[in-house]
Amino acid sequence: MREVEVELKVNGRHYKLKIVPWRTLLEVLRENLGLVGTKKSCNEGECGACTVIMDGRAVASCLVLAIDAQNKEILTIEGMSEGERLHPIQESFLKHGAVQCGFCTPGMVMSAKALLDENPNPTLEEIRRGISGNLCRCTGYQHIIDSIEAVAGSGDRD
Ligand code: FES
Ligand code: FES
Repeated sequence: MREVEVELKVNGRHYKLKIVPWRTLLEVLRENLGLVGTKKSCNEGECGACTVIMDGRAVASCLVLAIDAQNKEILTIEGMSEGERLHPIQESFLKHGAVQCGFCTPGMVMSAKALLDENPNPTLEEIRRGISGNLCRCTGYQHIIDSIEAVAGSGDRD
């Protein structure tokens, strides 16, 4: 099938590329734009490793066609830090030992950001729900929950 021209805005940068219409946002991020911080695992919306923020909402980028991500603000893990300075959520994950193999971490951080942007003071239950689409096979989740709780309480999350 013929390729189509697609324009995306990712981490504040505009990209114009030609792709087949069925290419997912995840494939474009990783393979066309080289933004490999967003992870590919199940590729069917089950694990959350590919989570990015699209117009303020956490989405599984493996389930979004790149063509449908046009005219939207997309934020990936690469857009969270400022140069060498990590985002407070990332700092909190490190401080609380919420990173082991690290494979789930980018997706977790993006889900945490979407949650805290929408609800700056979530309850424990709301934090659990906020990351319920993200699987972690290493940490047992408690350190991740602690990290998010600490950032929420500090008001230091932008
Ligand atoms: S890779 Fe997208 S949800 Fe698992
Ligand atoms: S830290 Fe390994 S999957 Fe979460």
